[in-house]
Amino acid sequence: MKKILAISGSTRKQSSNLTIIKKIQELTADNWEMTICDYPELLPHYNPDLDTEVAPELVNAFRKAVSESDGVLICTPEYAMGIPGTLKNALDWTVSVGSFSQKAVAVITASSLGEKAHESLIGTIRIIDAKLPDETTLLISNIRTKFDANGTLIDMDTLARITTTLQHFGRLLTTS
Ligand SMILES: Cc1cc2nc3c(=O)[nH]c(=O)nc-3n(C[C@H](O)[C@H](O)[C@H](O)COP(=O)(O)O)c2cc1C
Repeated sequence: MKKILAISGSTRKQSSNLTIIKKIQELTADNWEMTICDYPELLPHYNPDLDTEVAPELVNAFRKAVSESDGVLICTPEYAMGIPGTLKNALDWTVSVGSFSQKAVAVITASSLGEKAHESLIGTIRIIDAKLPDETTLLISNIRTKFDANGTLIDMDTLARITTTLQHFGRLLTTS
């Protein structure tokens, strides 16, 4: 079983991105042990003065969770043409210790539009030395139209695109 850490860029309880993560968790349960990181919003604001060997406890936990995983799945919306601050803050805490170095990563941006955040997040993930080929990135625009009133993902084309991205992520995990 591959150990996957999943991070949602949205902290909303009814988040489309969290729903996608849960759907992926269900789809891959036979092969991947997926842990959803449920505390990014509790990480302190990044401050280089606190970025020392004795970093804040939750920061250490986050860094360890990334390091000990075989791969990281990030699903995020776009906020004001960029990635949500909570997600960027979490990523910033890993820069000095290289938690993402050579880590297999998949990025799904699910948003109303999402292009800017998608591009920005891909740039961030690549600059921190993670393995992120184009095939493990996916932009899903008009995300709210892909669910029914019960919050179930009903758009078959979206589901097929997610499945293809997961197949590529699976291959990346086995070659990493
Ligand atoms: C503060 C805020 C800013 C937003 N800005 C954008 C934006 O720039 N581009 C976009 O595509 N969607 C934007 N949205 C809409 C989100 O894409 C949409 O609410 C999405 O469903 C949020 O993801 P979630 O369902 O996982 O919480 C914004 C939403 C919020 C709350």
